[in-house]
Amino acid sequence: MHTLPHHFEFMSDAWLAEARTWFETRRDRLGEPFSVSERMTDAPPHLGLPEDVASWTVRWDGQEVSVARGFDASAAATCEGDYQAALMAAQVVGLQAPGAVDAMLREIRTVFGPDAIRFGGAGGMPESAVRLMGTFHDDMGRRTVENPDLEHRARRQGLTRHIREMEEQGYTVIERAISETFADQVREATLRTLTQHQATTLNWMTYHGREFEQLVQNPLLMTLIDASLGRGAVIASISAIRRGPGPGFIPMHTDYAHVPEPYPEFSLTGVGVWALEDWTVASGPTWIVPGSHKHRRPPRPGEGHNQGVPVEMPKGSVVYFHHGVWHWQGDRTEAGERVTIHSHFNRGILRSLEPRKTDVQMLHRNPPRLGEMLGEDDWFDKMSAAGRDYGRFAYMARLQAFNDAKKREILGQGEAPAGQDLAALVS
Ligand SMILES: [Fe+2]
Repeated sequence: MHTLPHHFEFMSDAWLAEARTWFETRRDRLGEPFSVSERMTDAPPHLGLPEDVASWTVRWDGQEVSVARGFDASAAATCEGDYQAALMAAQVVGLQAPGAVDAMLREIRTVFGPDAIRFGGAGGMPESAVRLMGTFHDDMGRRTVENPDLEHRARRQGLTRHIREMEEQGYTVIERAISETFADQVREATLRTLTQHQATTLNWMTYHGREFEQLVQNPLLMTLIDASLGRGAVIASISAIRRGPGPGFIPMHTDYAHVPEPYPEFSLTGVGVWALEDWTVASGPTWIVPGSHKHRRPPRPGEGHNQGVPVEMPKGSVVYFHHGVWHWQGDRTEAGERVTIHSHFNRGILRSLEPRKTDVQMLHRNPPRLGEMLGEDDWFDKMSAAGRDYGRFAYMARLQAFNDAKKREILGQGEAPAGQDLAALVS
């Protein structure tokens, strides 16, 4: 059990039970007959599905509705593909908004390739059923969590190498994590927001539009954040910066403000910087000193510049650095502006820079991932008249242990040493 009681994993028994309830309670509103069947391969092993294949079928004949395991290729509409790719889709809420399905598929295909999700079936899906399935998708998406098996997820997302590199060098680059189209949309939204506020830099960007809500949950960057900061990591700040030609205005530093030396052996904070144009040496990219996090201290005056490397990457890529690695903003020698979004996260036990705003409408139009980074899933800042939130305490302890074990597996570190028995503290 790797979820809170009101959440579930995609295609798990709890998900299927909820799907059954969803259709049965709407029996008098299901419209014209339809059938939909889905089959996803390479599901995470902990779900315990035969051959790691996740499948289900819903069938409504106008009289009876059935929801069951198993794939039926003769259904009116079918969907097949890779589980992790399908889970990316399952965590999208708002599918009935104009253009939302196309945008979702574009981003999934950017990450997993053109054949990651395939649609088929015998045809004959009535329009009422298409709308119904959109509503079903959204209702389930609000409660569907990311794959908690970090090793499996990273492997399916092609990020195993990146996690190892991030540990060794203090940073890594995920090339083309989002499509060029989405990068253009985020850039336009960023400039719109900065201009409205007459600002060069701005924080609290999550609250300035749908583009930012979606970017901040990017599943690839979140895998690096889970791997470096643990589960329940919170938004420290989502900030925007625009800059024109000239010298960089952020000198060599680490992101560990107010952290005493020596820095801890584990990572406290990490930042993903999104490239919304191609990053080259001339564009004034971030420069990083590889491996400098191992010093576990900030650079001394004048130290490190001759060891820095420029981060060069195509539009739609993200560089993620963490753990007190040394970095600075480079000089820009070409014309035009560099526009960036800085996705700064903290380990969940720390405070944030920005106050977190848990707007119920925002939570409703997003999957649990957004709530997690706004502190909804842990027990901090929560208490009722009956006392501490032990349910969230126990949940996060279990999830962290699973996440940590899987990270050790990625890094080839073997079993973790015995820790505190947190379950005993709860009982
Ligand atoms: Fe920084």
